[in-house]
Amino acid sequence: MRQVTVPVLTIDGPSGAGKGTVSRLLAKKLGWHYLDSGSIYRSLAIALLKQSVALDDIPAIVEMARAMVLEFECGDDLAVKLNGEDITAQLGLEKTGIAASIIAVLPEVRAVLLQKQQDFKQAPGLVADGRDMGTVVFPDAAYKVFLTASSEKRAERRYKQLKEKGIDANLTGLTKDIEERDRRDRERATAPLSLANGALFIDSSDMTIDAVINQVLGLVQ
Ligand code: C5P
Repeated sequence: MRQVTVPVLTIDGPSGAGKGTVSRLLAKKLGWHYLDSGSIYRSLAIALLKQSVALDDIPAIVEMARAMVLEFECGDDLAVKLNGEDITAQLGLEKTGIAASIIAVLPEVRAVLLQKQQDFKQAPGLVADGRDMGTVVFPDAAYKVFLTASSEKRAERRYKQLKEKGIDANLTGLTKDIEERDRRDRERATAPLSLANGALFIDSSDMTIDAVINQVLGLVQ
């Protein structure tokens, strides 16, 4: 039987570079599926915080990662259920992102979550957003992008996003959190944030979302 090749577009980059917005819009335009891999790490972090599991208790974290059942609904925003419970409101919290980046350092955790992410690759295509989509999860992806922006711009965008959601935020604190998270994501031994071979590098600091989308569509179409 002839195997159908499912095209994958990977969009990697640091926190707050606009990957989520750009990836969701691209998936919509292309009519492809969408994987927000950060939401998987975030969901696990929520599960652990709920159960007060220590973020260095590797056996307990791995067990929870294996057992958790996630359901995704991709409308204008992403809605997520963890073991049947709607956790959408907690996904975007800073404490969730920080805990996610702490457990994302653990190779045992990444190994368990690998298959859950690869299962998203389904016809007619997939847009996958994260840190290691083009390097580890989908190394054979047809199209790869690395999307970044200056840390000041990324903190400003995060600040606006949180304010719009009615979540209290402080720009200086956010800049510090973003830089700390970047450092952890880039310096970890397993699947660090790095430019995948052949990836198109885009610095969105002074670009509109539309301009970024058009540049990526130029690669895919
Ligand atoms: O992208 P987002 O901010 O939602 O990701 C939360 C955290 O999950 C990141 O800071 C990163 O440490 C981790 N992550 C990862 N690999 C991915 C996606 C997210 O390590 N593919």
